[in-house]
Amino acid sequence: MILLYLTLSCLISWTLAAQRSPHHPRADAAYSPPYYPAPNGGWLSEWTSAYEKAQKIVGNMTLAEKVNLTTGTGEFMGPCAGQTGSALRFGIPNLCLHDSPLGIRNSDHNTAFPAGVTVGATFDKDLMYERGVGLGEEARGKGVNVLLGPVVGPTFRKPRGGRGWEGFGADPSLQAIGGAQTIKGMQSTGAISCLKHFIGNEQEMHRETSVLGPGYSSNIDDRTLHEIYLWPFAEGVRAGTGSVMMAYNDVNRSACSQNSLLINGILKDELGFQGFVMTDWLAQMGGVSSALAGLDMAMPGDGLIPLLGDSYWGSELSRSILNGTVPLERLNDMVTRIVATWYQMGQDEDYPLPNFSSNTLDETGPLYPGALISPTGVVNQYVNVEGTHNITANAIARDAITLLKNDNNTLPLSKNASLHVFGTDAGANSDGLNSCSDQGCDNGVLTMGWGSGTSRLPYLVTPQEAIANVTPTATFHISDTFPSGLTPNASSIALVFINADSGENYITVENNPGDRTTTDLYAWHNGDELVEAAAAVFSRVVVIIHTVGPIILENWIDLDPVKAVLIAHLPGQEAGYSLTDILYGDYSPSGHLPYTIPFNESNYPASVSLLNQPFGQIQDDFTEGIYIDYRHFLNANITPRYPFGHGLSYTTFSISDPVLTTVTPLDSAYSPSRTAKGSTPSYPTTIPDPDEVAWPDNFNRIWRYLYPYLDDPDSIVSNSTNSSAAYPYPDGYTTTAHPAPRAGGGQGGNPALFDVAFTLSVLVTNTGSRSGRAVAQLYVELPDTIDADVPSRQLRDFGKTGTLQPGGSETVVLNVTRKDLSVWDVGVQDWRTVVDGEGVGLWVGESLGSLGERDVRAIFGRGWGL
Ligand SMILES: *[C@@H]1O[C@H](CO)[C@@H](O)[C@H](O)[C@H]1NC(C)=O
Ligand SMILES: *[C@@H]1O[C@H](CO)[C@@H](O)[C@H](O)[C@H]1NC(C)=O
Ligand SMILES: *[C@@H]1O[C@H](CO)[C@@H](O)[C@H](O)[C@H]1NC(C)=O
Ligand SMILES: *[C@@H]1O[C@H](CO)[C@@H](O)[C@H](O)[C@H]1NC(C)=O
Ligand SMILES: *[C@@H]1O[C@H](CO)[C@@H](O)[C@H](O)[C@H]1NC(C)=O
Ligand SMILES: *[C@@H]1O[C@H](CO)[C@@H](O)[C@H](O)[C@H]1NC(C)=O
Ligand SMILES: *[C@@H]1O[C@H](CO)[C@@H](O)[C@H](O)[C@H]1NC(C)=O
Ligand SMILES: *[C@@H]1O[C@H](CO)[C@@H](O)[C@H](O)[C@H]1NC(C)=O
Ligand SMILES: *[C@@H]1O[C@H](CO)[C@@H](O)[C@H](O)[C@H]1NC(C)=O
Ligand SMILES: *[C@@H]1O[C@H](CO)[C@@H](O)[C@H](O)[C@H]1NC(C)=O
Ligand SMILES: *[C@@H]1O[C@H](CO)[C@@H](O)[C@H](O)[C@H]1NC(C)=O
Repeated sequence: MILLYLTLSCLISWTLAAQRSPHHPRADAAYSPPYYPAPNGGWLSEWTSAYEKAQKIVGNMTLAEKVNLTTGTGEFMGPCAGQTGSALRFGIPNLCLHDSPLGIRNSDHNTAFPAGVTVGATFDKDLMYERGVGLGEEARGKGVNVLLGPVVGPTFRKPRGGRGWEGFGADPSLQAIGGAQTIKGMQSTGAISCLKHFIGNEQEMHRETSVLGPGYSSNIDDRTLHEIYLWPFAEGVRAGTGSVMMAYNDVNRSACSQNSLLINGILKDELGFQGFVMTDWLAQMGGVSSALAGLDMAMPGDGLIPLLGDSYWGSELSRSILNGTVPLERLNDMVTRIVATWYQMGQDEDYPLPNFSSNTLDETGPLYPGALISPTGVVNQYVNVEGTHNITANAIARDAITLLKNDNNTLPLSKNASLHVFGTDAGANSDGLNSCSDQGCDNGVLTMGWGSGTSRLPYLVTPQEAIANVTPTATFHISDTFPSGLTPNASSIALVFINADSGENYITVENNPGDRTTTDLYAWHNGDELVEAAAAVFSRVVVIIHTVGPIILENWIDLDPVKAVLIAHLPGQEAGYSLTDILYGDYSPSGHLPYTIPFNESNYPASVSLLNQPFGQIQDDFTEGIYIDYRHFLNANITPRYPFGHGLSYTTFSISDPVLTTVTPLDSAYSPSRTAKGSTPSYPTTIPDPDEVAWPDNFNRIWRYLYPYLDDPDSIVSNSTNSSAAYPYPDGYTTTAHPAPRAGGGQGGNPALFDVAFTLSVLVTNTGSRSGRAVAQLYVELPDTIDADVPSRQLRDFGKTGTLQPGGSETVVLNVTRKDLSVWDVGVQDWRTVVDGEGVGLWVGESLGSLGERDVRAIFGRGWGL
């Protein structure tokens, strides 16, 4: 544990900053200002060559070919969750877009990797990258062009929110690093990643606008958006993600899928995003409106109600070009972005076509199930894409396991320990592997949450099987009811398995509509009672928890027999051996909490509760601002049960010998000026010949399939010839380019924001008697001179050592960028930092909690201050 202050003069006020109240949008005032027109892609050098190639073919495309690439062919109209139309004259097939962030969904012979929250808990950048490579290889092997992940939103603002587990944790930097490493790994294989969900999709209930009413509005102030929710998206754009998915919900009462400020302004202009933007499934709200707001691809293509053969785009996009309402330049930009991304990842060279169907496991079946009457053919080739990815999956599941407590070194177990194992969470799904569609049940060991963010398990090693393999004499009670009549002796140990599940809104599991509505933040299936019953009989109880997120342990955590507690997160297919590797001490635990564990749910601010109302639009005001998870606990001075970043080992570590190096001096409060935008492809703007979207002769039309064609395109007149037909454009609509935002300039923002200001290296030494891996977490503390309300610590970087033998050590180098030491200045619309880092505190420790336990002056007394 180390604290470094960049100057001694500012030592040190422990009083938390006075709570100046920031500007929060309120329901009645929530408003999203217009930002038009959509910026064209292609102005950044990293993408130049791909855009040059794209321009050559887009310039020769017909209107029908262009529209084809922007619009899905309809729900269940192909093997994948969604597919675009094709432009076969140029070698572009129907592009396959498919879930999920942890493995190929609804397929076979694929790896079910650990979920995002598990990956976050490893705090291991290399494993994050390796999993990305594995996911990309499996996508490619199955013929998936765009794999729909990683998730960096939701970000656990709401601890009960259903899909927090798909992302990497409750901190923007942890999300950012997890997301960026995944993207780099995935795209190194040629698969296109899809960073999602942009933005503010923090609960499942009422997320979608449908015939029943509007989805909720996440009302987020500009500073909170930038410092919390946008942060990982910026880092993902910087990592080069090829696509971004817009969220279901509104932001400031404007649907994300057609929010011009979010897409045109923030994503494409400020963050310099050069790839393409798609809807979430069936989240498109309008045709012209979404095109003007910057949307590039509609998925799966259908209008408000799927399977009717209607689309907001497809033939209607053709019409809106011919009638002059959507500028041709906008369509050209959509298509150029899509084709450039395809080239950027090298998908023009031997990228496989889909050889699986997410609609069936049968070998043959309908090619277009949504058509009802469809040609049939071979749809599943059962290609095995698993490779050796189970090694990565096992390493992640193992290195994520987080040891919360281990009194009297109860763990590791000896192989001859007399064990009694309790709980259905130790065993198999009693209805069979993958018996619940999209994992929509909680039966057996919890390997992932439920919904579209899942995959089938190719196999599963349960904890029961793995333990039986090591300790043949263990007794198993695979039930959530404690058996009567057990008389353990003093050497017996109880292992109690409990879990807490959640998932996506379209499936309700045990009365939980995605979000955890029914058991609060407690374990499911009376798990707490099972632990209490074991503690009443056994003198040593070890609790193993599989959970989607924060869970309250207070019913039993302080009972004397409860000696050890592990959180094994959501381990995927390798649940068993990853756990026994830790239980029996072949490896020391090295996972750390990617969120805070509170004493009580009332420890959270009221504004992060789930919202539910039958009629009207829910206004979800983010009034807690930047204070979510540990930022809130610090700010409100609430001690949690276990702090963010907590995680014990079987050994102990010291962190010492800090060396601080200034790399890029922060000689001004704002970044140096950005460079001007480079040029973008330009094309003729004359409205195309209507015949380009006439139905081809003898065309074999599939019922309800979405096409770009129109019955009588010649009848459409542009408003250039019929001025009375002017379109009611949205307020603020213009075709005059917006001035380039000063915070932009490169992928992710002004490149100067990512200049490393300081490098801090520390020596991590294993001071205990077993081997193990340590995580050095770097938190920054901004001084009062930043002149903004800030949390007293914010995670900004981390590094994990290799396996250190007792006495062994390793130097970990941690970077702090200009942006890491900045706040978003709403007035100036730019990031503002502390000149020369004056008064900034840099803290390094094994968890957020370990930082607070010290006597700060003593540390300076030991000469660690600068
Ligand atoms: C939402 O409204 C708030 C407060 O009015 C404003 O600060 C923010 O920029 C708006 N964001 C969007 C995306 O409209
Ligand atoms: C159309 O294709 C030809 C041949 O590939 C190419 O030379 C030309 O530049 C393309 N036209 C446009 C407008 O890009
Ligand atoms: C548009 O895509 C469909 C397949 O989705 C294909 O049948 C059709 O030929 C394509 N149109 C053109 C003009 O390439
Ligand atoms: C042009 O077509 C689009 C798509 O059907 C439609 O929404 C729009 O109102 C039309 N514009 C005019 C001026 O009629
Ligand atoms: C299916 O997978 C195989 C092996 O990866 C690949 O060679 C093939 O191109 C893929 N697609 C089809 C349609 O066979
Ligand atoms: C991975 O799978 C291979 C078989 O494909 C098996 O031999 C190996 O033991 C597995 N490794 C792990 C870590 O599960
Ligand atoms: C550790 O073990 C000793 C006896 O071996 C016992 O007195 C003590 O209470 C134990 N501590 C805990 C926290 O279980
Ligand atoms: C297990 O074996 C070790 C020696 O390997 C021994 O010290 C210990 O007492 C044994 N424990 C039990 C419960 O038999
Ligand atoms: C404790 O009980 C286990 C069976 O559960 C037995 O194998 C072991 O020998 C017993 N130990 C003692 C010290 O009685
Ligand atoms: C169509 O009308 C709008 C104004 O309603 C105008 O801005 C646009 O330039 C017109 N398009 C053409 C092609 O004249
Ligand atoms: C840290 O920054 C240096 C540049 O100062 C860079 O070379 C290095 O790759 C960075 N390390 C990490 C882990 O990002």
